[in-house]
Amino acid sequence: MGEESREDEYLLDTQTVRKFITDTRLAISRSRSPEQTIEAIRPRFAELLADEGWLPEEFQSVSAESGMGGGIGQWLIFRSGARDLSLFSLVVPPGSTTPVHDHLAWGLVGLYRGEQEETVFSRRDETRSVGGREELEPVVRRTIRRGDFYPLLPPKDDIHAVRTTSEVASVSIHLLANDTGCVWRHSYNPDTGEVKPFRSGYVNRSCEDEEATPRGDGGS
Ligand SMILES: [Fe+2]
Repeated sequence: MGEESREDEYLLDTQTVRKFITDTRLAISRSRSPEQTIEAIRPRFAELLADEGWLPEEFQSVSAESGMGGGIGQWLIFRSGARDLSLFSLVVPPGSTTPVHDHLAWGLVGLYRGEQEETVFSRRDETRSVGGREELEPVVRRTIRRGDFYPLLPPKDDIHAVRTTSEVASVSIHLLANDTGCVWRHSYNPDTGEVKPFRSGYVNRSCEDEEATPRGDGGS
């Protein structure tokens, strides 16, 4: 993997972003669990969502060639050298919906602009079979407004889809404990139970190991 040779990447290198990442790392170092870390970061994350001045327009724009499909832009803001922490924005055009997907790491997701409807799914069977089938049922459907945020804590509450319900694109801010755009995770078809390998990518950064397609399944 060559993790030692990787460095922190700030695609948006500002004082606000650096301070947020420094505070997040401090919280991680002082916490004994993802739950504790999330609790410690909550006030800082709320501040970031309330601050209207730090995220440039580019990071709030939709993208034609998106791994998520539907014009959805995923913009990397920061990722750590160890690829165990990332901050990115997700821009979902009006009416567009993400695939049903998982994240495979703890995190915080909050709304910066617009409005979304989030549907959270739970797994009926604990087995995870990529390329196989998985029965999902929707357990929560809720409206997420500007400033609202929620934790991701796998294996529970890790599978969801979001749809923009505002007339403008929604912009959500994600702090995740992995390199979410580049890890192979899963998309789900809740109607058929089909599970597919899924890598969303970033609009503004490529993944280093583009050849790493799991199970020989095309998964674009
Ligand atoms: Fe998500």
